[in-house]
Amino acid sequence: MKHLQLAVAFAVLAFAGVYVSAQQAPPKEIPPALHWAYGYSAGAAPLNNNARPGATPAAVVDPNELVKIPGSTQALPRSIFRRAKGDEGVKPVPDWAPDSHPPMPDIVRLGRSIRDASGNYLSPTDGNGNIVYAAGGVEDGGIRACGFCHSAHGMGHPGNGAIAGLPASYLMQQMEDYRNGLRNSSDPSKGNTKRMAWYATRMTPAETKASIDYFSKLPYPKSYRVVEATMVPTTRITEYFIPATGAVAGTEPIDGRIIEVPEHPELTELRAPNAPFVAYVPPGALARGQQAAVTFQCATCHGASLNGMTMAEWGEVPAIAGRSPAYVVRQMFDMKTGSRRGTNAKSMKAIVDRMTPEDMIHVAAYVASQAPQP
Ligand code: HEC
Ligand code: HEC
Repeated sequence: MKHLQLAVAFAVLAFAGVYVSAQQAPPKEIPPALHWAYGYSAGAAPLNNNARPGATPAAVVDPNELVKIPGSTQALPRSIFRRAKGDEGVKPVPDWAPDSHPPMPDIVRLGRSIRDASGNYLSPTDGNGNIVYAAGGVEDGGIRACGFCHSAHGMGHPGNGAIAGLPASYLMQQMEDYRNGLRNSSDPSKGNTKRMAWYATRMTPAETKASIDYFSKLPYPKSYRVVEATMVPTTRITEYFIPATGAVAGTEPIDGRIIEVPEHPELTELRAPNAPFVAYVPPGALARGQQAAVTFQCATCHGASLNGMTMAEWGEVPAIAGRSPAYVVRQMFDMKTGSRRGTNAKSMKAIVDRMTPEDMIHVAAYVASQAPQP
């Protein structure tokens, strides 16, 4: 257990690179009812109000120490759970089950370092040339391996997104939309979305194709349990909510939010394949969400079981069944604000324009409870 605690603290440090500032409040346009979807506490008794990652002190660990998880024969050094300057293109991503997926292309497994003519590493910047985020002042220089954030099995985490189980044509279109500046976050401090766009603009066509070929072949297994609750665990945030431990462990009112937490935080932080989540949703959300899905006709485009379908007008519409409520809500809200306005995102604009934050919460609860196609 001690091993796992250390590993968690170590992984937290790696994820601390996600947001620009520990103190930055979300912009006013995101209604407080949806702050949770962007990684902010907004409960009646918030544990770390406005606290974004970076607050968790890094544990001192031996980078060469080997860590193991149940069900895998691999022993992985702690060093591969974080990234620092010069690591891109060199350090492989954690992979607990190498036999369970096709070989990862280099861009997925290693990423690629980018340097200027003088040999300086180039780092993700926002549109104004500011470095997006430097964890502890150390920038990574280049395109971070896709498998580091989205994990080797493509399941990702609620703060980024699962890209497994989605059609190649849809994923390619998203890369194109990022490249064309058409996919941003409504929260300008969400650094990982900026990074994603920065990578997409610098990847070669061959890298883009290889990475999407790889991820589009991976299955999306069921990974959410949805529970209606009035009280939820107190949480801390890295790139997603994690149950608080120690003196601050306890419960607090759900306060209309969805709180999705790993069932086994250590395993999720270590990017164990298929590490499951539980999503606590407000009482009544599932029935209201089912009704809202009918009202807003989700199945017309996403298919009867919400596992996607092909349409003449919009091509391969992505599966949404059983996916992260935080991710689903962010996408709907980002489409509503026009932060996400890619070629086919137009299809949903009229729908999300009519949806209230509560509609989005209810529908995301219902969507998460639906079975993904095996
Ligand atoms: C720093 C972490 C990070 C890395 C590394 C990363 N991504 Fe992402 N990616 C994100 C985030 C965050 C999002 C979701 C952003 C949002 O909410 O719009 C995302 C979204 C995506 C999406 C859209 C998913 C969907 O369902 O529409 C695709 C496709 C994608 N990434 C592909 C890649 C590929 C290919 C690579 C490797 C070059 C990569 N990503 C590397 C963070 C990352
Ligand atoms: C008119 C057709 C249509 C309807 C109705 C519709 N969608 Fe969509 N949806 C799409 C298309 C097309 C995309 C892909 C957009 C893109 O390429 O950017 C999409 C994308 C999404 C995404 C982002 C998926 C991802 O991986 O990033 C979510 C979440 C989503 N829809 C949820 C819903 C929900 C929930 C409803 C019902 C409230 C709904 N949609 C109704 C067509 C539709």
